[in-house]
Amino acid sequence: MSEKNIVLIGFMGTGKSSVGRALSREMGIPVLDSDRLIEELEGMTINEIFARKGQPYFRDAETHLLKDLKGRKERFILSAGGGMPLREENRPLMRALGTVVLIDSTVESLARRLSRATDRPNIRGEGSLEDRIKTLLDERMPIYLDAADLIVKNEGKSVRRLAGEIRNRLN
Ligand code: S3P
Repeated sequence: MSEKNIVLIGFMGTGKSSVGRALSREMGIPVLDSDRLIEELEGMTINEIFARKGQPYFRDAETHLLKDLKGRKERFILSAGGGMPLREENRPLMRALGTVVLIDSTVESLARRLSRATDRPNIRGEGSLEDRIKTLLDERMPIYLDAADLIVKNEGKSVRRLAGEIRNRLN
């Protein structure tokens, strides 16, 4: 098993946080969730940060967090916010932290998982949720692929199975 950190990336709703927690339990190493860490640092929820400070401020916070994590000695798993790889500067920072694993999902399953989400400002808006997800995913997919060392598909798989698959592929 590689001793590198694991950085989970992917669109909102792909299950990065639950897969991160499952990997953490199985591997006995901590999982860090970038959204939660930024919420703690800022003393605000993601919705509040976006509304009061704006998205560029949040993106800066993500870059600061990545730079801070570079100094961390103990091995960890990072569940990265879905927009973290979008900033070009962040991609080499993420790669330097560990193996970047993309969790890939279909638009239909994302729409199902995100249908009741109220904490994702970037999927709010006009038109159908599926259309908004598709537009964003089309824009983002080339960037996610560029950022990823490894790609796993979550379709039809339980969290445990996905975590197991990631561990096998990292071996
Ligand atoms: C975002 C994804 C969210 C969160 C913020 C922006 C995005 O994280 O960072 O709402 O632009 O994709 P999750 O992927 O954990 O939902």
